[in-house]
Amino acid sequence: MQATEPSSTHSRASVNVLLVGSGGREHALAWKLRQSPRLGELFITAPENPGLASLGRAVDVPVNIREIYRLKSFCDKNAVGLVVIGPEDPLAEGMADALIAQGRVVFGPIAAAARIESDKAWAKQLLRAASVPMAEGRWFSEISAARAYVQTREDPPVIKASGLCKGKGVIVPGSIDEALKALDRLMVKREFGEAGRTVVVEERLEGPEVSVLALVDGRNIYVLEPCQDHKRLMDDDAGPNTGGMGVYCPGGLVWGRDEALLDQIQSEILVPTLDALRREGIEYRGVLYAGIMLTPAGPKLLEYNCRFGDPECQALMMRLDADLIDVLMACGSHGLADMDLRWSPAASCCVVLAAPGYPEKPKKGVPIFGVEEASAVPGVQVFHAGTRVDTSLPADAPSRLVTNGGRVLNVCASGSSIKEARERAYQAAALIRFEGKQMRTDIASRALEPVVASG
Ligand code: AMP
Ligand code: GLY
Repeated sequence: MQATEPSSTHSRASVNVLLVGSGGREHALAWKLRQSPRLGELFITAPENPGLASLGRAVDVPVNIREIYRLKSFCDKNAVGLVVIGPEDPLAEGMADALIAQGRVVFGPIAAAARIESDKAWAKQLLRAASVPMAEGRWFSEISAARAYVQTREDPPVIKASGLCKGKGVIVPGSIDEALKALDRLMVKREFGEAGRTVVVEERLEGPEVSVLALVDGRNIYVLEPCQDHKRLMDDDAGPNTGGMGVYCPGGLVWGRDEALLDQIQSEILVPTLDALRREGIEYRGVLYAGIMLTPAGPKLLEYNCRFGDPECQALMMRLDADLIDVLMACGSHGLADMDLRWSPAASCCVVLAAPGYPEKPKKGVPIFGVEEASAVPGVQVFHAGTRVDTSLPADAPSRLVTNGGRVLNVCASGSSIKEARERAYQAAALIRFEGKQMRTDIASRALEPVVASG
């Protein structure tokens, strides 16, 4: 993309930003926003996250769609020039719509566009019509029809709740019997509530997975550096699926063919998706996150998210060499074509520290030690994902920082190579101690394997 000088002093005026969301992704966004010389006030919605609290001022009104008028009037009173919506739920509920209607610049799609994540059955129908390569599958709202279909399959298919369920609504069964049980869990027991009213049943794909995120401004698309997430809880991809236990960036396509593969993903998956949305009269603005499986038959879409990945965002923010306010505003106002978006040549690696019991039943309130020491390791940033300060503990307690969620801390590092970034992240992660800490020890280890030339 071409470098452009700011077109007017107006475009460089300081901007008050409201950041919606509470996790490590939002802490990383806040950290990067703070580096912008354009930042006026930074308002945050989750002061219980000590990382966010240290960087912004808490909004003093409820932040939810039912009382959106209060958030709108907060934005008016505080001259908020940019609203950044991190998580999928408020996007699916129409928070962006409400604020855009007020004439505000918003980073994040409107509800009709967020449906690409919040209604997988609808997305599948739309994308199939647009010939986007993905798993073959069907969707059902009747358990009997879903059961009958599963029983016709030779191999056990993947079962997905159509609606949003915090990344937990996908079951990859090992047998037809397990697939039938999964249908029961979603459709009869309603383990994920209304999200399981409709299910998608699709063929199980094989191959390495990669996260490809693209910024979109309604007209232009800018594919970000690919990231390699590690979804399973334990080393060697064992254990249950999680929201993501660690990431490295730039990551993991087939070595030596990254550029061509990224182009293919853009032209066969991302662009046809945006075109299909446009044909429905839906303009997508924000970040579009494609979970891709690199199958022997080429890259195929697993699913879309309408938001930054977590912890992909953390690894990306460590490497972004541009003013984040400019970037996010460009997405919200058809300005991507003029953006000068650069990446640091350094690599980044993020290791997630999770609470005991995660993902099933994470234990809250466990004291955490060593975050300061970890943050002092060169190149390291520790982002708070699920922590809080327990003020009921005595002021002289050894630590008042306690676990407050499943994924607790994101230990991120940059380095001149993935090897160095990884070593730094693990050096820092080892300094953080809490009872029952869960951490994979093999994040980015695949990136250290010798490069094998591929045809
Ligand atoms: P999703 O939330 O759709 O990204 O799914 C969560 C995880 O389930 C993915 O990261 C994959 O590891 C796995 N998964 C989802 N769909 C499929 C599929 N069709 N075939 C194989 N694995 C899948
Ligand atoms: N890291 C996977 C996700 O954000 O969905």
